[in-house]
Amino acid sequence: MSDPDLVPDPVPDPVPDSVPDLVPDLVPDPVLSFDRRDGSIWYNGSSMAWTDAKLHVMSHGLHYASCVFEGIRAYGGEPYKLREHYERFHMSANLLDFQIPYDVPTLEQATRELLKDNSLSEAYIRPVAWRGSEQMAIAADKTTIHVALVAWNFGDYFGARLKGIRLTLSGWRRPSPESAPCNSKAAGLYTICTLAKHEAQRKGFDDALMLDYRGQIAESTGANIFLVIDGKIHTPKADCFLDGITRQTLVQIARREGIEIVERAVALEDLERAQEVFLTGTAAEVTLVRAIDEREFPDNAITKRLAALYDAEVRP
Ligand SMILES: Cc1ncc(COP(=O)(O)O)c(C=O)c1O
Repeated sequence: MSDPDLVPDPVPDPVPDSVPDLVPDLVPDPVLSFDRRDGSIWYNGSSMAWTDAKLHVMSHGLHYASCVFEGIRAYGGEPYKLREHYERFHMSANLLDFQIPYDVPTLEQATRELLKDNSLSEAYIRPVAWRGSEQMAIAADKTTIHVALVAWNFGDYFGARLKGIRLTLSGWRRPSPESAPCNSKAAGLYTICTLAKHEAQRKGFDDALMLDYRGQIAESTGANIFLVIDGKIHTPKADCFLDGITRQTLVQIARREGIEIVERAVALEDLERAQEVFLTGTAAEVTLVRAIDEREFPDNAITKRLAALYDAEVRP
């Protein structure tokens, strides 16, 4: 490998005593804390005032991360791929050995009502499900399952989608399928993402590139990754991380456009041959990556074309 800056640290940076102010993700207004907003939240089957949607400190989900969530966007008031997100929500819970007590049509209907009640058009929707307080032990089979749906106004996740962001390689790696339920959008799997993101932001980058347990390129902390190499698009096989709904959409769009997609093991060395790199995710949409550590990517034509096609696809 020719670029020593792309070699991962053998041990992740320790967390320093004081963490500098970080630009909080998913926060449209950093001053207003998320527990003090106006509006309504759908909580266990009914709508309640935003500030009343609380859970008990003895919730199993809090202590043992028995919690799954989703991230959905609405464009012009219409949630994009709502059914797919709620099917994944159910699958994520099943992988953590619990069942969401509301079926997909009920959650779809509740989401549409939530958007209407809160007059939301360009929005981020956060469904979350967790185990309750009946048991405080590793075993949790007698806990009840709680579900909440929350939505708020939301724009460009990185604020620089097509200007391009800078990533740095993290020392944290995505675990193997034998070590974690990696196809579940499980809260616990985000612990290493938060650590990787903080480490990247402290170094002055926008986000982190994470390798998998084999040392192959996996994804960023909250989005899938694609490399453009000589007109073809290469992306890691989603065999130990989330096969994003946006990733699947992008693959379909590219194939429809006659652009070849190669799903394979992607090595760090492949970055040396890439002319463009981009991320995909519900929040990230299609986000251009300008650089990964010292390696800069000179082009953006294919990324911009796909980003425009993605925008056209998601808007009603
Ligand atoms: C770790 C991670 N990978 C990938 C994705 C992209 O998934 P999707 O396109 O379904 O939003 C997300 C976002 O949900 C994510 O958090």
